[in-house]
Formats: sequence, structure tokens, C-alpha cells
Amino acid sequence: MITTSSIICPSSTRTSSPTTRCLPGSILLNTDDPCFDVGACTVVKELGYVGPVFPRDARAPCPGLNTLANHGYIPRSGRNIDFITLVAAIMEVYNISLPLALLLSVPGFLLYAHLRVCWNGIRPSVTYTLTLSSLSSFGPGLKIAHRASLVHPNYPTQCPDIDMVNDVVRSTRGLALTLSDLAGLRVSRESESELRGAQKLSGVHEQVALGESALTWLIFARKGEDISVSYFKQWFGEERIPDGWTRPEKTIGVFDARKVAGSVQQEMYRLQ
Ligand code: HEM
Repeated sequence: MITTSSIICPSSTRTSSPTTRCLPGSILLNTDDPCFDVGACTVVKELGYVGPVFPRDARAPCPGLNTLANHGYIPRSGRNIDFITLVAAIMEVYNISLPLALLLSVPGFLLYAHLRVCWNGIRPSVTYTLTLSSLSSFGPGLKIAHRASLVHPNYPTQCPDIDMVNDVVRSTRGLALTLSDLAGLRVSRESESELRGAQKLSGVHEQVALGESALTWLIFARKGEDISVSYFKQWFGEERIPDGWTRPEKTIGVFDARKVAGSVQQEMYRLQ
């Protein structure tokens, strides 16, 4: 049945990407079908940057994952992402070890993924997949999203707040971001949120936030150098692989992340 949200997917509908190709001819796709994935209309895996195009494209409050979707390492729709695809993409793009990629992905899947049985007219298939927008939920119970993020407001959102990105950029006065700057940002976001009536971050969320800062440092700071402001702006603000950036040469492991998170925390204590 063709519903109002059915779309035709000729190559011209993905206008922002000169490189993305769809199945030849016009194929009717039903976007109301929970098994439907816009990304599935891509025949050739193209990795150029294309921001979300369709109204149903889903994004998370996570620059790491949105960048993977915007470059096609995971479905560009941000929907129906399977576990192996996500783990492989995290390892490939950011040079993260398998144990750390699992540590990042397993909780997300356990908390937010959906088990579905789809029927393709011939046989059933079982899928266990994640849709990025589900990660933005706040509220009681176990949720990863937290207040006092660096570039996201204190309510569920799927995209960065550009004013917050620009505030960070301005605060660097054109210089690069040091580890101490990252710690300082965390201190000011946490105290600002509390001033606005938000509860203090729980111990778990405090660790999640430290982990996010640690990953940012390990991925974007080069040996002996700080984080280039343009990397910050493009990754946090535009959710793209920054121009001129290459993935870290050394694989980032669980202990590296733990160590840097500890350093950020120490620096936060010093600044408070
Ligand atoms: C290498 C992989 C990843 C990197 C580099 C990364 C990095 C980040 C960073 C820097 C933030 C903070 C954004 C801010 O402060 O405004 C963030 C937020 C978040 N990430 Fe990731 N992430 C990764 C993987 C994942 C995975 C696998 C999941 C779950 C499946 C996830 C879920 C989230 C969520 C829910 C938030 C929102 C937390 C908040 O409220 O600030 N991330 N991520």
C-alpha cells in the first residue's frame, strides 16, 4: 500500500550528495514501515559528508555517532543500525580498540535497541537495531543523555546548539583547546546547569561526561598538541570529519580513555 509518507527514491532526492546513488529507476518506499531504512536505497557505500536530508532522518546528541551517519559509515538515515555495523564503524573511523568500542556500544544497545521481526513477503527476518534519536531521551531510569553537555542544551535534542559551539570557540580566542580548557568547560557547564535549577550530575553521568571529554581529547589532540579549534567546530558543530584530520595512529584503548578521564577529573577539582 502506498501511504502519504511513501516516497519515491530516484537519485535526485538525495540532492546534497553528488556521490550517493540509489537503485536505478524509481522505487516506491514506505517510510512508515518500521523495517524501512532510507540508507538501504544506497547501492554504493559513499563516505562523503551529507547532513540529514529527510524529515525522518534520526540523529543523536552525540557528535561521534552523528558524524558516522553523516558520512555513511552507519546508515545515513540514523535508523535501524545493527550492532556489528556500529562497532566496526567506531573502530574504523576513530581507531578505537574492540574492547572500548564494545564498552561504548553495548550499553547503548541494551538500553535503546529494538528487537523486530520483519516480513519481506517470503520469509521473516529478525533484527536488533538502534535508531539514533532514541539516545536523546532524558528522564527517570537508565539513560545515557545528561545535562551539562558541552554543546547540547539541558533537554532532549538531536542536534548541537550552535550558540554553545560558538561560545566555546570564542572562549579559546582562536587558540587550540587544551585538556585544561575541556575540564574548565565541564566545570562551567555543570555549575551553570545547577544555577538554572538542574540537579547535580549523578556519579554515573559524571563518569559518562568525563569519558566523552577523554574520547574527544584522544581522538583530536595530536602528540604534544592541543585540539585545533577548527576540528572542534567541525566535529561538534557540523558533525563531520574535520578537514585535514586523520584518525589517531595509535589505537585508543579502554585504559587510555580511563587515564585521560582521570586527568580531566583532576583538572576539574583543581579549577573548582
Ligand atoms: C567513538 C565513539 C564515540 C565518541 C567519540 C563519542 C563522543 C561523544 C561526545 C564528545 C559527547 C558529548 C557531546 C556534548 O557534550 O555536547 C557524546 C554524547 C553522547 N554520546 Fe557519544 N560518542 C561515541 C560513541 C557513542 C555510542 C556508541 C553511544 C551509544 C550507543 C553514544 C551515546 C551518546 C549519548 C547518548 C550522548 C549524549 C550525552 C549527553 O547528554 O551529553 N556515544 N558522545
